[in-house]
Amino acid sequence: MSGPESIVSSEARPARAPLTIPALRRHKVRDGVEPLVMLTAYDAPTARLAAAAGIDLLLVGDSVGTAVLGYDSTVPVTLDDIVHHAKAVRRGAPHAQMVADLPFLTYQVSDEQAVTNAGRLVQEGGADAVKLEGGRAQADRIRAIVSAGIPVVGHIGLTPQSAGALGGMRVQGRDLDGALALIEDARAVEAAGAHMLVVEVVPAELGALITETVSIPTIGIGAGAACDGQVLVWTDLAGLTAKALDEAIRPRFAAPTLDLNALLEDAFAGFAAAVRSGAYPQPQHTYPMKPEVLAAVREALPAPLAADGARDA
Ligand code: KIV
Repeated sequence: MSGPESIVSSEARPARAPLTIPALRRHKVRDGVEPLVMLTAYDAPTARLAAAAGIDLLLVGDSVGTAVLGYDSTVPVTLDDIVHHAKAVRRGAPHAQMVADLPFLTYQVSDEQAVTNAGRLVQEGGADAVKLEGGRAQADRIRAIVSAGIPVVGHIGLTPQSAGALGGMRVQGRDLDGALALIEDARAVEAAGAHMLVVEVVPAELGALITETVSIPTIGIGAGAACDGQVLVWTDLAGLTAKALDEAIRPRFAAPTLDLNALLEDAFAGFAAAVRSGAYPQPQHTYPMKPEVLAAVREALPAPLAADGARDA
């Protein structure tokens, strides 16, 4: 296991203006425009922290399945799961620009299914936009959802919901055909009306080419520095998952900045040891009762039962 790297600076954080969908659509990194920063969030406290830290966009990703719910992949995640977590994120960060994922098979079946389910994420979950995986194959779905007035973020490259069909969680677009196909996918997603595009695990050069090709911002995850923004799964960033901390299996973009796994395990073990040794709780951790109230309660208590069931007194 290797230690966390430091990619963070402790400089003061400037206040950031809330981002609207039209402003996001125009957000390309050029002429001094800063890249967008997106982080996943699945609950209220982390959403609150991410918003306070100046994260531009929160993603209630179906990565909740592997990061939080204990699944091996994102495939078992349901629409109800995402609605549930989106509500929590919205409570934690009421003003954040929040994107929620449409999980596996909640949009692929028909335009009607896609619009209805995207609507639930907005209406019940409080999302500002929805994200779905796929390029040309999902262009009609994107068009249908956008036509219903719901902003859509595309997602191409390594699309974990179809990792089986892609031959596993592997780098996409490494050869000529694969790279050209992804550029076509990016164009199709933009033409269908998406306002932003996540590009996952492609060579950095292809990430740059896709970013040049489309006029909407690209948000990279393992797609190089030329993208218009970057996204990470927060549990990978904070080193909460064993996967994020184990160099042998960690995706190279995961970049943990602390070992939250070790910090929490220490805190939990410390609590267990303190309870068992009697060191916790101390008087300052408890709520005292006035002595006269305690005396009155004792006085009012019925006498304990004797062995034969009769009152002792
Ligand atoms: O579900 C998710 O967290 C995602 C990001 C990895 C982009 O889709």
